[in-house]
Amino acid sequence: MIHMSKENFLGELLGRMTVAEKAGQLNLLTGVMDATGIKNSGDLGAKIRAGQCGAMLNVYTPAATRALQQVAMEAPLQIPLLFGYDVIHGHRTLFPIPLGLACSWNLDLIERCARAAATEAAADGLHWVYSPMVDISHDPRWGRVAEGSGEDPWLGSEIAVAMVRGYQGTDLADPTSVLACVKHFALYGAPMGGRDYNTVDMSRRAMEETYFPPYRAAIDAGARTVMTAFNEIEGIPASGNRWLLTELLRDDWGFQGWIVTDYTAISEMKSHGTAATDADAARQSLDAGVDMDMVSELYLSELPVLVESGAVMEEQLDAAVLRVLETKWDLGLFQNAFARCDEERARQVHLCPEYRQLAREAAREAIVLLKNDGPLLPLKKRGIIVVIGPLADSRRDMLGCWSAAGDAAVAASPLDGIREAAGRDAEVVYASGDDPDEAIRAAQQADQVILVLGEHWEMYGEAASRTNIRLPGGQRKLAKRILKTGKPCVLVTMSGRPLELTWENSKFHAILHAWALGTEGGRALADVIFGDAAPVGKLTMGFPRSVGQLPMTYREKPTGRPFDAAEHYTSKYLDAGNEPLYPFGYGLTYGAFHYGAVSVEPQEMEPGGTVTVTAEITNIGESAATETLQLYLRDLVASISRPIKELRGYHRITLAAGESRVVSFEITDALLSFPGRDFKPVVEPGDFEAMIGPSSAQVQKVRFTRRGAAFREI
Ligand code: BGC
Repeated sequence: MIHMSKENFLGELLGRMTVAEKAGQLNLLTGVMDATGIKNSGDLGAKIRAGQCGAMLNVYTPAATRALQQVAMEAPLQIPLLFGYDVIHGHRTLFPIPLGLACSWNLDLIERCARAAATEAAADGLHWVYSPMVDISHDPRWGRVAEGSGEDPWLGSEIAVAMVRGYQGTDLADPTSVLACVKHFALYGAPMGGRDYNTVDMSRRAMEETYFPPYRAAIDAGARTVMTAFNEIEGIPASGNRWLLTELLRDDWGFQGWIVTDYTAISEMKSHGTAATDADAARQSLDAGVDMDMVSELYLSELPVLVESGAVMEEQLDAAVLRVLETKWDLGLFQNAFARCDEERARQVHLCPEYRQLAREAAREAIVLLKNDGPLLPLKKRGIIVVIGPLADSRRDMLGCWSAAGDAAVAASPLDGIREAAGRDAEVVYASGDDPDEAIRAAQQADQVILVLGEHWEMYGEAASRTNIRLPGGQRKLAKRILKTGKPCVLVTMSGRPLELTWENSKFHAILHAWALGTEGGRALADVIFGDAAPVGKLTMGFPRSVGQLPMTYREKPTGRPFDAAEHYTSKYLDAGNEPLYPFGYGLTYGAFHYGAVSVEPQEMEPGGTVTVTAEITNIGESAATETLQLYLRDLVASISRPIKELRGYHRITLAAGESRVVSFEITDALLSFPGRDFKPVVEPGDFEAMIGPSSAQVQKVRFTRRGAAFREI
């Protein structure tokens, strides 16, 4: 038991550390081969013993973390190690990939998934997860859209907060809590051409309005760590960017935690051409405000020399070390370095029935029904059901990218789920499609066909950009042949990004988008296919008609020549529409709703006052159904051009057949504000449009007026 105050204890400890040991605390090493394929850094035991390592990634299980922790606790300074890992959408029990889970628009569910992931990770000896990834992106060519929440900064911010809460809980010292790490700061979602690690070149306005809000929301929610991005910002790599990391993040936003680089990002500054030597790179990063070096080991090798020569002040180093030590204290590590290495808790929580049930619920809610003419879905459990496709019997693809400690052997593939659900009521036949003739023969005998196509898990995620985002390989060819049989056929698509499904949309009667749904994905998919659960997901990233439209977002600015089909010289393409195939906010369910007229009361809003926007919605289907109504706003004339619509609220409601409900949204100044000419939040008087609808593309509008003079929030 330590009886000193935190300040005294850490001050005393710091006083005993050499410069080399201080640099060691800032050194984050990888333990094993990791997802990026880079080998680990030398002899770990010797480094830990010598005080050259403060934290590790890619090592988990109570036994493995305990063994390394023991080495640290036998070293002269006895400073516990911190263990981090890419727990991106679950640890042992996997939830849908983040882009899929975001489509639930269910913040409580998202928070519960993050809490479960934290609990499982913590029971495996981990203290730190490299999540949430809150990079907004408008470009599905970029494979990492799978890891984020989609295209919208407002919804992305809400989701970021839910995840931070779930991971960190209410008390970091609780052995089920882990540190969240907001990444990748900043703008990583906007590489040119959608090519991973490529240059980002962006206006300050786009940063402030579109890209920064989710990082900031996560920090305001108390996220303790931030990871830098690989890209440059205005010519300066994020990991050496003092404006970004110190002036903006710490000074303006008040971030109190510590900053880690992304993998080898410090040494990559030499490749960026902004640092000539290792020493130069290390100095730039420390000066910029980076506290911890992930894997490049340049803090370890260079900081002692830089302090010695006077190029770096020891106080700078101390500040970074203290931030890291303080976090270790807050996690309770100095009291008990082994509290999270707990085989018994690991046995209890890993893949426990409660989390598997949560995974099934999350997977159901992530599924988006894109089309359902007929309606063809839900299918009946009867006759011969033929399941076809290269992803149909793949458990691994259900787990998706960044599958942490997930085990495909315990996951359910679509076929597993369909077989279980059909039981004895239907005969389920499977053909992978590797032999298309065999698949056609099977389909010819079918009463119903389920075709499962899409991207394998390695086709998205890090370093997985694509210029063609159609169904890969020969999948469309297979689909054509199956359709020719004339059998009723449901297309299930799986992917880590919005796909270009224009052809499929024109040919299939029913399309269900199933992302990579996690451990229970196959069962959840079967729940939805057979109507044991209805689809409720709404896209958080639009699906383009053509890859040539990218990047794209529903939050477009108006332009001086807005689209007009009859006017040649307006903003459009010659060979495609402007709009996406399936827009942001879109998703069908079983059944249908009627939206009554939208109204606003009062029609004038006083400064600091409110108006209420209302719509009546009726379930015109034959059974109970759930809908997510969305509120969008537009400031019609302002000192800065405003997007033609921006999401500012939503309600999810379930109505019995025939039931109507009046749904209202209260509009406050906070919802009308935007970064003014000086980037400070401002609300300007004038006319606004409020829009309510089932997606960003199907809205009804009303107008109201905000009175008074320009108002600046404090
Ligand atoms: C990724 C990060 C990840 C890190 C550690 C990097 O390559 O960009 O998102 O957290 O590796 O595995």
